[in-house]
Amino acid sequence: MDQERLEELKEWFSQYVAKCYGGNDYVNTNLELKEAHSLRVCDEMRYVTGHLELSANQNRIAEFIALFHDIGRFVQFNKYRTYNDNKTPSHCLMSIEVLKEHRLLNSFDKSERIWIEKAIQYHGLKVLPDNLSAESLLFCKLIRDADKIDIYYVVTESYRQYRDEPEKFKLELEFPDRPECSGHVVDGLLNGERIDYKGLRTWNDLKLLQLSWIYDINFIPALVRIKERGFLELMFEFLPKSEEIGKIRKKIIADINAFTAGSG
Ligand SMILES: [Fe+2]
Repeated sequence: MDQERLEELKEWFSQYVAKCYGGNDYVNTNLELKEAHSLRVCDEMRYVTGHLELSANQNRIAEFIALFHDIGRFVQFNKYRTYNDNKTPSHCLMSIEVLKEHRLLNSFDKSERIWIEKAIQYHGLKVLPDNLSAESLLFCKLIRDADKIDIYYVVTESYRQYRDEPEKFKLELEFPDRPECSGHVVDGLLNGERIDYKGLRTWNDLKLLQLSWIYDINFIPALVRIKERGFLELMFEFLPKSEEIGKIRKKIIADINAFTAGSG
């Protein structure tokens, strides 16, 4: 795919998304969040690929994946009024359905289509399958990193708004806003275990799960970016100032400094 075709596909994205608006303010606010997220994930993808030695074609494929990885979100929210994948079909699969329905993958050769489909299908999985080809794995890892960088921006912004301008906060709260963190989530994070979304009980548990994503970042430039933008410090601002959270903070800051030592 050449740069000109990528630009056409970006234009297609804008027109498609524009047609999804119109339901009501609540729907529009939620759709705007995902539209802006998709565009910023493209920026983050360019940042990460700009620090890696990939071909120009690989960079363009990565940017296409970044722009379209959540295209199914617009159908998901319009149809089900939630982004919670536990209550709807997977938004990752819905994204692939949109790409197929509109024949957007026709611009790519056969192997490229497979890399794109797998990267989008697997971007929301907790763990990637272990049978992926090297190229598939590259794009899977890239989108997961670029997505996470921006998710840190999105969630810290929404936590700030909820705290500072609660009257303007219109987004869906997935978990009760109670002061506690669940013991198994705190222990899981301190012990370096994966935290299961299904075991979350409170909004603070969700914040801890989001913090644990730094252990899933694949490329050092992505980690450097998260650190430089101050997202980790911000996440801790919105968590209780308890002893257990203090321990988690110390561990995460030490780990991230060790991972990024000598780079960035
Ligand atoms: Fe997604």
